[in-house]
Amino acid sequence: MIVLQLSDFHVRGDDRPSFGVVDTRRCLEEALAHLKKTEAKPDALVLTGDLADDGDEKAYRILHESFSPLGWPIYAIPGNHDRRDRMRAILPGWCPADPDAAPCICYTVEDGPVRLVMVDTTNPGSHGGHWHPTVMRWLDKTLAKRPRTPTLLFMHHPPFATGLPVMDASLENADALATILRKNPPTRLCCGHIHRPILSQWRGVSVVTAPAVSMQMELDLSEKGGDEFRLETPGYLLHHWKQGVLNTHVCQIATRTSFAGPYSFSGQRTEDRGQKTETEDRRLKTDDRAACGLCSQLSVI
Ligand SMILES: [Fe+2]
Ligand SMILES: [Fe+2]
Repeated sequence: MIVLQLSDFHVRGDDRPSFGVVDTRRCLEEALAHLKKTEAKPDALVLTGDLADDGDEKAYRILHESFSPLGWPIYAIPGNHDRRDRMRAILPGWCPADPDAAPCICYTVEDGPVRLVMVDTTNPGSHGGHWHPTVMRWLDKTLAKRPRTPTLLFMHHPPFATGLPVMDASLENADALATILRKNPPTRLCCGHIHRPILSQWRGVSVVTAPAVSMQMELDLSEKGGDEFRLETPGYLLHHWKQGVLNTHVCQIATRTSFAGPYSFSGQRTEDRGQKTETEDRRLKTDDRAACGLCSQLSVI
């Protein structure tokens, strides 16, 4: 069984560059071109949030038109840049949400040897991860239905401190998640949001974060780390289950990578920067850290 995990497209409906720098439509097209040539046809394609940059309707339509011709089963969950209502309306086949977890978009895919569990960790207006009590009750009940089943559990936000301080501000109610997962050991937690692959062991649980299809987080472990990105090679995760072994491969997407940057996530918003493009070799640094990098709406500091 092969599950491809793509994350953090940040597609815009207005064709402006994301964060004033990144041509995310081109990133999407490069990812599609790569996937069309891949030999490993997946049993499922999972999209772990930040599909859109600002939750605009056109971005979801672009994604739907782009991926549907592949003919692969597609499953999505929202990230902090997404709009649940628009994902439900425009991508209903990709978000078969269980009403028991409403208003969050949570559901399972049970037709393969590895169970896929999709968990919504977003809270409108907030950048960080939220493990809502309703969602945690749903998850506990859901995992208990098939105990000891190999499980890939997908959510946008990782529950662990990444060491990139700006990204680690909110881990609300993550203890409840750890308690539930400890009862279901054959689980790999697969996240997005960080725009960088990280492999970790959190409270006894195997955790991995996906590289982004768009920009990649600058690896800065200092106090200001987690607020800059670079135009590094994009990528995705390939989860492969065979003969009782679950391997997760970190894959790269062939692009004309410039490695330009670092650029700040937390400077002026796209609208304020105008039509700048990534070909402009400029550094967008700022001392204003009141607004978090990957958040368009709320301070995390
Ligand atoms: Fe993102
Ligand atoms: Fe995010």
